[in-house]
Amino acid sequence: MHTQCDFQSLGFVFLFVVVQYAHGDLSYSVQEELKRGTVIGNIAKDLGLEVGRLSARKARVDMEGSDKQYCGINLRSGDLLVEERIDREELCGEKPSCVLKFDLLLETPLELHRLTLQVQDINDNAPIFPKDVVKLEITESADRGARYRVNAAHDADTGKNSVKSYSLEQNPHFLFSIQTTSAGSKYGELVLNKELDREEQQEIKLLLTAVDGGSPQRTGTVVIHVIVLDANDNAPVFSEAVYSATLPENSPLKTPVISVTATDSDESVNGEVIYEFCRISDKSQKLFSLNEKTGEITVTGDIDFEEGSKYEVFVEAKDGYGLSSEAKVIIDITDLNDNAPVIYLKSLSIPIPENVSPGTEVGIINVQDRDSENNKQVHCSIQQNVPFKLVPSIKNYYSLVTTGQLDRELVSDYNITISATDEGSPPLSSSKTVQLSVADINDNPPVFEEQYYSAYVTENNKAGSTLCSVTARDPDWRQNGTVIYSLLPGEVNGAPASSYLSVNGDTGVVQAVRTFDYEQFRSFKVHLMARDNGSPQLSSNVTVSVFISDVNDNCPQILYPAPEGNSFMTELVTKATHGGSLVSKVIAVDADSGQNAWLSYHIVKSTDPGLFTIGVHSGEIRTQRDISESDSIKQNLIVAVKDNGQPSLSATCSMMLLISDNLAEVPELKDISYDEKNSNLTSYLIIALVSVSTFLLTFIIIILGVRFCCRRKPRLLFDGAVAIPSAYLPPNYADVDGTGTLRSTYNYDAYLTTGSRTSDFKFVSSYNDNTLPAVQTLRKSPSDFADAFGELEENSKALP
Ligand SMILES: *[C@@H]1O[C@H](CO)[C@@H](O)[C@H](O)[C@H]1NC(C)=O
Ligand SMILES: *[C@@H]1O[C@H](CO)[C@@H](O)[C@H](O)[C@H]1NC(C)=O
Ligand SMILES: *[C@@H]1O[C@H](CO)[C@@H](O)[C@H](O)[C@H]1NC(C)=O
Repeated sequence: MHTQCDFQSLGFVFLFVVVQYAHGDLSYSVQEELKRGTVIGNIAKDLGLEVGRLSARKARVDMEGSDKQYCGINLRSGDLLVEERIDREELCGEKPSCVLKFDLLLETPLELHRLTLQVQDINDNAPIFPKDVVKLEITESADRGARYRVNAAHDADTGKNSVKSYSLEQNPHFLFSIQTTSAGSKYGELVLNKELDREEQQEIKLLLTAVDGGSPQRTGTVVIHVIVLDANDNAPVFSEAVYSATLPENSPLKTPVISVTATDSDESVNGEVIYEFCRISDKSQKLFSLNEKTGEITVTGDIDFEEGSKYEVFVEAKDGYGLSSEAKVIIDITDLNDNAPVIYLKSLSIPIPENVSPGTEVGIINVQDRDSENNKQVHCSIQQNVPFKLVPSIKNYYSLVTTGQLDRELVSDYNITISATDEGSPPLSSSKTVQLSVADINDNPPVFEEQYYSAYVTENNKAGSTLCSVTARDPDWRQNGTVIYSLLPGEVNGAPASSYLSVNGDTGVVQAVRTFDYEQFRSFKVHLMARDNGSPQLSSNVTVSVFISDVNDNCPQILYPAPEGNSFMTELVTKATHGGSLVSKVIAVDADSGQNAWLSYHIVKSTDPGLFTIGVHSGEIRTQRDISESDSIKQNLIVAVKDNGQPSLSATCSMMLLISDNLAEVPELKDISYDEKNSNLTSYLIIALVSVSTFLLTFIIIILGVRFCCRRKPRLLFDGAVAIPSAYLPPNYADVDGTGTLRSTYNYDAYLTTGSRTSDFKFVSSYNDNTLPAVQTLRKSPSDFADAFGELEENSKALP
């Protein structure tokens, strides 16, 4: 291109010239980046102007719309020069052609020429990738042929100076290709030529070089950093296929049991293992929990060996994208001695009759312990001192057997405590109380509280009066121990015992059936039986002795001299009789006994009070002094015999003593009797005798009456005979049993010896003054006599 640039230095003609030369355009081509002062072309020549004229016409170049002076005119040579650096890339960017437009002005006349400057590209820019490093995250599971876009490099130059080709560093995995979009822009693609494996190589760095077409070539590089992303291509792997753990029972909650571990060689989410139970029984579910993160199995329920001794659970380990594997966990529970033995009473035969023989089985015990091994070995025993023991039987059964004789009356109930202890450590034990009752057997007869019973009753008791009470005890149960009293059949004095006594069957109170007479019998025995109501009945017997005590219900009976009226008894007293001689004796008996029969004798009236004296207890009449001639031949004595009862009873008799050596000397008895009648004394005597006779008669009637009532009553004491009876023995005198009083025996002796006047009267000495305070008793006599002989009241005062 040859464009001429004409510089006019004359301003005046400038406008004209411009008009004139407006069509004379100049065009040059210039390379970018030329040095300042590089000649682009010669304007003067191209415009056909003289060089000298340029300066005169003030030629200059102006750039349209900019005050940048890329070009300048050398006015002396007319050359267009590069004034400033022309950078195509800066001025035109990516435009394929870069044209700079200038105005060339010449003055005088004004001339305007269009000047275009075609800027030629040179390869002054290297290709540049947008980033130094391109990061690509490619999953390892990416298939061959997968493409990954990579931004193309940019070269500011254009045309052949722009990016021409790329080259990728040699590598096994990737290729590089350039693609053009439909819009025409280019981009690169990384093509996967061989699958990646993160586990082998986690990242790849590749250098991609872009080369432009300029000369010399310029290159740009980028590092392609491929990060191989993990694909979940590995399942978690457990460290063991089967885990086993032992766990003591009763482990507290949260106790760690075992930790399972599975590893996954994948990364992050793909390598994150989560643990879960995959197969687990409902029971195990309640007992164990699995930490899904750590794989630790912990206790969440009550671990009881007795409920389950072994658990099998399956644990699944799963990674983030669901690959999983499974392992088995076996948990063995170990036993602790946490169960005490339990005692079961399988059978019990109660009540146990008390007569069972030792060794009888009365019950069956079963002992169970839920633990295992030694912890379930149980020993059973009875610690108490009871007549029972446990005999081991089959397996864990025991028989409860008696070891001795039972006695309900001693122990009627047993609370047997059976204790069972296992062999665990520490041992556990339990106990059970078994109540055993012993049934009654009628094995005890009633037993009277006393071996003998004695009842004392005073005679003349009322029928129905209580004599005594017997008690028998029977320790047996209910009717076997219910005591019934009865009178055993027997005879008392020939009559059935039941006519004497009765016993209350329930209470044992013994009552008299009739009135007893001491003079008839003083004691008797009956036999009572106490029997129980059992079957068979048992009984025991006891003797009841009834002692009848005396009541002073009998008057003394004068045996000698015979009572007045029937015959007149006289005794001869020789004149030579000295003082103190025994002249006669009054003999009296009393059917009563003891004090009631202890007789005392008193002379209540005598012809010569100073002559005779009577032994108070012996009844012996003795002279007080020697008989003198002056003494009256006939001496009359009235003797009162009195017993010692309360009140005392008495009898009187009169005795005629003749003081004479020869009966022939004695005047007729009738005379004496007659004489006596005249005396005052005689009349008294008669009165006394009459009263005594009346008394006697009454007595006889009573005796007759008693005899009538009781056929066995001995004969009447006196048959009106004068003579001293020799064979009469009143029943109460017959001390057959030896149970009578001592005194009655003496009385009896006295009676027997009264047959002889000349007897030695040994009975007199039998009276022991120590036995009876005779003096004291006799001192009362006067008043007693006064009662008995009311008629003799006045005279009695004269008695000593
Ligand atoms: C046995 O036990 C029962 C109930 O605890 C009690 O009533 C009874 O008195 C006891 N018997 C003996 C002999 O301990
Ligand atoms: C009394 O004893 C007999 C055997 O001697 C017995 O069979 C009966 O059951 C006993 N009665 C009572 C109430 O215990
Ligand atoms: C009691 O006496 C009765 C009648 O004599 C007799 O049958 C019974 O065997 C006696 N009992 C005893 C325990 O001696």
